[in-house]
Amino acid sequence: MPESVYLNGEWLAPEAAKVSVFDRGFLFADGIYEVVPVYHGQPFLLEDHLARLERSLAALEIANPGQAFWLDLIQQLLTRNHSQDALVYIQVTRGAEAKRSHLPQGPLQPTIFASVSAMPVHWDVPTPVKVTLLDDIRWLRCDIKSISLLGNIMLKQQAQACGALEPLLHRNGLVTEGASSNYFAVKDGAIYTAPTDHLILPGITRMWVLKLAKELAIPVHEQAFSVADLAQLDELFLTSSSREVQPIGQIDDIIIGQGGCGPITEQLVHAFHTSKRELSAQ
Ligand code: PDD
Repeated sequence: MPESVYLNGEWLAPEAAKVSVFDRGFLFADGIYEVVPVYHGQPFLLEDHLARLERSLAALEIANPGQAFWLDLIQQLLTRNHSQDALVYIQVTRGAEAKRSHLPQGPLQPTIFASVSAMPVHWDVPTPVKVTLLDDIRWLRCDIKSISLLGNIMLKQQAQACGALEPLLHRNGLVTEGASSNYFAVKDGAIYTAPTDHLILPGITRMWVLKLAKELAIPVHEQAFSVADLAQLDELFLTSSSREVQPIGQIDDIIIGQGGCGPITEQLVHAFHTSKRELSAQ
């Protein structure tokens, strides 16, 4: 647990931070969140995370307190908790009102909460894990980083029951993403990942790995991989702020490649670690 969390203008011990039962986040999951990785005390790709936070807030028509507010908040959070390798969690809900009503009754004061947790950081090649293919039962605005995560949670529970780390989700015969990660499929030396539309969260790690792949001259297609072709895959990996670049060795009973970390994935794991080291040293 962190020493100190931020809630609506105050710095509090986690157990002292309390939110109204009439908060629309509690009653309706009417809010959004953001997760920012921190290496050696430096937020990683912070501008991109804050830009996505802005897009999520705008989608819900919640006012953004602004860039300077977030920069100060994150800096204070890291200092107060002596954070080095960590994940910053930011949540904004539409706020509390006197009566439960689906439609908000006028503009409210948003509830702003921020916390931080220690993150185990990889500097090596992570052990490949298993995923399980599941029907993407979520809503059609997966591009908004909504705190309404019931679909994702149910899918993760199903995946866990199959001994898988993550579900690999599909809709209309195409792979969309994981329940809390994006995917990259490698076939014949080229990378495929779902395009950033309303069916996936536009991952910041995804965006960064695409940039690294282009620098390494690996051909990239922002094109969803088809479920029918999964058995022919050479390599597969997931990306997220907490998992970084995570190789996948198996989809249900299908072993991918040799079941280990493939050469393109390994190249990108190393490129990712190098960029973390470089950006956090600045
Ligand atoms: N999850 N897709 C979904 C559905 C996600 O929830 C996440 C992130 C990603 C990857 O996004 P990024 O690379 O920006 O972390 C993709 C975060 C880490 C979470 O829910 O805690």
